Amino acid sequence: MERTRLVIGNWKMELSYGGQLELARSIKQLLPSVSKNVDIVICPSYPVLAAVREVLHGGVLALGAQHVHWEERGAWTGEVSVSQLASLVAWCIVGHSEQRHLTGMTDEQVCATAHLLLQQGITPVVCVGETREEHDTEVTIGKVTAQVAALLRTTTRTSLSKLVIAYEPIWAIGSGEMPDPEEAASVMLLIRKLVAEQFDNEVAERVRVIYGGSVSARTAASYVTEPGVDGVLVGGASLKPRDFIEIVRLVATGTS
Ligand code: PGA
Repeated sequence: MERTRLVIGNWKMELSYGGQLELARSIKQLLPSVSKNVDIVICPSYPVLAAVREVLHGGVLALGAQHVHWEERGAWTGEVSVSQLASLVAWCIVGHSEQRHLTGMTDEQVCATAHLLLQQGITPVVCVGETREEHDTEVTIGKVTAQVAALLRTTTRTSLSKLVIAYEPIWAIGSGEMPDPEEAASVMLLIRKLVAEQFDNEVAERVRVIYGGSVSARTAASYVTEPGVDGVLVGGASLKPRDFIEIVRLVATGTS
């Protein structure tokens, strides 16, 4: 099966309004030299989404949001709903560990969000992963299995092929520490196995599974050359245009 790989830049809350516009322009400008066999998504902050959308117009870069609320509407001061995002983005990160931590977002709320996004034709990028303590006490498999099982219980066969699962060990995010590529790939293989058990091999083959946590231009290749790894979710390194483009190149070609 022909696979389209995926690179997502998660800009978090790191840059000013103008800084994000500048970064979007730089990435767009550097991109034409890059292979087309890859979806490239950037996720700026809410206030700048509309302006970045203008910048990206006519190019290959896609726009995503970093988070959205799990309720359709209501008295949720400061929150943003899926329908409010629908005309702006084609992708949305769901259940990033920083949001799970901040809002106490549960697996059920993550699943509800993914469901609403799929209804609106927005691709959810659902983050799963273990804490450092869970990793050190070797309960990674149990933790990731529970998160993925919750997702699979509420997702249909058709919608699953439109969804992305990002394995992000929480201890690897922003820390410069990473699991061995083989270790990360084995967890990602487990995710695909869970999908196959719930549905079948065809769906498991189609779902895109990506790795996130301290990915850089130096480390990306060793992860994306592992079997079953469809791409990367990049935080810090996505703020440096040349590094981000290099990561895109590595992912697109699957080589170092
Ligand atoms: P990092 O962030 O690449 O800076 O570790 C990844 C993420 O939080 O998605």
